[in-house]
Amino acid sequence: MSVEDQGLIAERAWPPEGELGPVVISEEQIAQRVAELGRQLTADYAGKAPLLIGVLKGAFMFMADICRAIDRPVEVDFMAVASYGTATKTSGVVRIVKDLDADLADRHVLVIEDIVDSGLTLSYLNRYLLSRRPASLEVCALLLKRGQQRAKLDVAYVGFEIEPDFVVGYGLDVAERYRNLPDLRIYNEPAP
Ligand code: IMP
Repeated sequence: MSVEDQGLIAERAWPPEGELGPVVISEEQIAQRVAELGRQLTADYAGKAPLLIGVLKGAFMFMADICRAIDRPVEVDFMAVASYGTATKTSGVVRIVKDLDADLADRHVLVIEDIVDSGLTLSYLNRYLLSRRPASLEVCALLLKRGQQRAKLDVAYVGFEIEPDFVVGYGLDVAERYRNLPDLRIYNEPAP
């Protein structure tokens, strides 16, 4: 971003009037659910040392919290994917921007995702990760949008099922903004 653009953004009112809707899931609710999921994962991965794969960028905050809630010897790695589409809808065509460093062969892999909407991104990732022959592959998604899935998916761990609104905060963005909000809030798309 140019210095001029940074200056313009810094001078604007924050948050921009009307863009943010109500809180859908509060910081406290997230913390409570992360602790519950952590207990469940600790039990389910007893005797195992899972490899957590965070899908950047959206899952960075959830990854930081969930890995601390799992009382097992976990390892973490990250992938970055970009999906083509509009600001708020994916086309399902996914490009790997950053690949894994770890070898997945014979590892118990747990994918940490921010949100499953159409499920196309996750279905692509699953196929890609399975081709690397892990011992097991499961998905832990913070959010799942009710009734939106266009791909058949098996998401073993879901934080919250939400209505199909566009949400921001706790790592989730629109055009790279709002990732730093501590709660999840509805994003009101500006009228065209
Ligand atoms: P899918 O392929 O349609 O399931 O979309 C998955 C990706 O789209 C997520 O990993 C997010 O990066 C992004 N996404 C989908 N819905 C939202 C949302 O409500 N807020 C922010 N990002 C979203």
